[in-house]
Amino acid sequence: MHSIFKTMIIAAMMLPATFATAQGVEPMVLGKQHCMVRADLGKRYIMLPVEEKAEICNIKLIAGGEVVKTLNVRLAVDNVDYFVPLDLDRCGGKKALLDIHINNSPRQSGSVGDYVCWKQISSTDNIDTKNRERLRPEYHHTPLWGWMNDPNGLFYKDGLWHLYYQWNPYGSQWENMHWGHSVSRDLVKWENVGTGIEPDALGTVFSGCCVVDKNNTAGFGRGAVIAMYTSAGESQTQSLAYSNDGGRTFTKYEGNPVITADIPDFRDPHIFWNDKIGKWNLILAAGQEMRIYTSQNLKEWKYESSFGTGYGCHGGVWECPDLFPVDIEGTGKQKWVLLCNINPGGPAGGSATQYFTGDFDGHVFTPDTAPGVTRWLDYGKDHYATISFDNAPGGRRVMIGWMSNWQYAAQVPTLQYRSANTIAREPFLFNDGGTVFCGSRPVNEMLASRGKMLLSTTLKASSKRIKKEFNAQQGAYELLMKLTPKKGEVLTLTLSNSRGEQTIMTYDEAKGTFLMDRTHSGKTEFSEFFPVSTKAPVHGGQMTELRLFVDKSSIEAFVNGGRTVMTNIVFPSEPYNTMTVKGTKGSKIQQLIIYNLTK
Ligand code: FRU
Repeated sequence: MHSIFKTMIIAAMMLPATFATAQGVEPMVLGKQHCMVRADLGKRYIMLPVEEKAEICNIKLIAGGEVVKTLNVRLAVDNVDYFVPLDLDRCGGKKALLDIHINNSPRQSGSVGDYVCWKQISSTDNIDTKNRERLRPEYHHTPLWGWMNDPNGLFYKDGLWHLYYQWNPYGSQWENMHWGHSVSRDLVKWENVGTGIEPDALGTVFSGCCVVDKNNTAGFGRGAVIAMYTSAGESQTQSLAYSNDGGRTFTKYEGNPVITADIPDFRDPHIFWNDKIGKWNLILAAGQEMRIYTSQNLKEWKYESSFGTGYGCHGGVWECPDLFPVDIEGTGKQKWVLLCNINPGGPAGGSATQYFTGDFDGHVFTPDTAPGVTRWLDYGKDHYATISFDNAPGGRRVMIGWMSNWQYAAQVPTLQYRSANTIAREPFLFNDGGTVFCGSRPVNEMLASRGKMLLSTTLKASSKRIKKEFNAQQGAYELLMKLTPKKGEVLTLTLSNSRGEQTIMTYDEAKGTFLMDRTHSGKTEFSEFFPVSTKAPVHGGQMTELRLFVDKSSIEAFVNGGRTVMTNIVFPSEPYNTMTVKGTKGSKIQQLIIYNLTK
């Protein structure tokens, strides 16, 4: 693959235990919960064996008498699920020692010295990142290995879209939050380029943003990329880091933290330049409201106002805000959209993205909606933490979300990595029955990824059913359907495979609803919250267009050009290669095309 940051590529080995060449170490057992291990096995990376159901071990990497890294790893007790690499480069050539605290040994008897991990530890200079997951998406961003949640610090500069993400490089469950880093030239093909920001003494690195400081307002350099993120230590505070090499490496600001508060949930800063006031604005989540600040220099921030009490859904914590102006289609006018991710409390349970439309004068956000009204950006179960890119070209507004749900993200049936991002989408505002709503449509770049046509068909008015098999190839495709529904129509579109696994989408004309049922979609039993049907109101009159993006383990549905959106993940045991459309009233389907989608 063409490498954008050739020198930065780092990789991971996630071999099943049987393929790893175990070198083994002799642990120094120091008690029931403590041991040390000499980590110098002569290679750059030490490969730590992980067992997902094991308890967390707190590890200090010590070199020259200093702690050079702390990390929490589920070191394998009985069986090795996969390996994670620990880079010893940071030891600066000094001897490396692991000081390991073991929490709650699951073993009633025997010594921690008997854990399988010590025998299986190995080392390597060249880490193998080959994909080992059948259900890893083709054209969605995923981490090479390890756990991923929110997208962070999205920005565009010099032809590259940068995507950082909440990343655990030491396991496929949430822990050790770092910012991982990927880049793309077209918002479709992503290249993982390593670690963006690492934890420090102020805490692990939670979600945040990046801005391009074109006028050097912060004094870190003209065009510097400035990240603000939450340092999650004993308390949550906001920190800055800057990059003078286009987001590749970051230096932490020595004056961190730059914003503090006496509130436990105080996080996920999002900054944007506001021309109207000639200042930077910042919005962040504070408990169940969003706080707004201003600044001239990104370092000193003035609190302006709070928004949220009494508005929207409060079924959970408010997280990951964003605030930006969007055109109202066909009016020449704009409104501000405030994105408010909430967990739990989503329309189908667990996490989801609500939004508010309103006015913003740089100091106060005034919503259009009455208290108690809630609007959802996406009605699926797997759309969260959506934020937008800074500095997108041509004034574009492009968003990306995390395609999972806190209810089961740690249980989904993949091991090498956990979770993907949504495709990139553009928000737009539209009027439906006198009310302004926010829709989102796939970015145009998706069109360029259309490959071979796998199926093209129509359904005459008065016919009631089509069933077609197509060559689903990788299980990565786009389905586009244009129709003229009859009154009272109940139309189902089913994607299925030879094992009888299926996801059923239903449009009910009379009720004005769109449903996606994944109760028999494949593997569903890993969580009681997974086998469900999600439901949305259809905006924009009858459903006349449905566009589906299917990518091995996800389905994103855009109804009527994105006026209604629904994102759900699915885990079929083989790709869905059969499409069945059934109607009750004989609606006409003018076009139904399936394109293979390539990276
Ligand atoms: C949202 C979130 C953020 C936080 C991050 C931690 O999914 O809880 O509020 O910064 O994840 O990983």
